[in-house]
Amino acid sequence: MKFSEITEEFRKLGFKNFRTEGKPEVIQGAYDCAYNYFQSFEEIREQRQNSITLLGQPGTGKTHLLTAIANNLMFKKHVGVQYFPYVEGFNDLKDDFDKLEEKLARMKEADVLFIDDLFKPAKGVPRATDWQVEQTYAVINHRYLNYKPIMISSELPIDQMVEIDEALATRIYEMCKQYLVLIQGDKFQLNHRLEDMT
Ligand SMILES: Nc1ncnc2c1ncn2[C@@H]1O[C@H](COP(=O)(O)OP(=O)(O)OP(=O)(O)O)[C@@H](O)[C@H]1O
Ligand SMILES: [Mg+2]
Repeated sequence: MKFSEITEEFRKLGFKNFRTEGKPEVIQGAYDCAYNYFQSFEEIREQRQNSITLLGQPGTGKTHLLTAIANNLMFKKHVGVQYFPYVEGFNDLKDDFDKLEEKLARMKEADVLFIDDLFKPAKGVPRATDWQVEQTYAVINHRYLNYKPIMISSELPIDQMVEIDEALATRIYEMCKQYLVLIQGDKFQLNHRLEDMT
């Protein structure tokens, strides 16, 4: 994928083109959570609970809403947001060990770090090798200690993250608990990609 393609697709995702009418209440809740987070960002950015996480089923708008926050932070508030799609991002880190430290440093220092699809499962099994967990922990712990915001989407609820790595998962929880939504239920109602099937 070319970088320009990612950014063009990315920039189209906003609050205005996220629909809530006719959707289950939890989707409205996710929208409100994301919108309130953006509205409160400047006020909370240095606090312990300065981060957001949208968790749960595929196709429910997690990436859309966090990207809407990212676009608004970047273009309206001039806040730097680094996008790290978990699977592709780790492939990229693995492919070029020479640049590993430099790339990790950028993830640690960005104004806001957006990790999309943390531990994204393959065939139902979360992807979390020891190396992936170790690197993710180093980045998140640095940001935790320095009060730097994160935005995280994942199919896994917090309790399943705790099973993978308690130290990592509980830091994420502590940072995000003010802005945390878990989207679970009937996939035919929740998955936007299946919307026209029923
Ligand atoms: N409420 C909505 N209104 C308009 N478009 C939506 C809505 N929810 C999702 N979409 C669109 O549906 C597609 C899937 O949404 P998105 O990628 O945000 O889901 P996700 O929860 O991140 O899924 P996954 O876990 O598979 O990554 C995207 O093209 C997104 O723009
Ligand atoms: Mg997604």
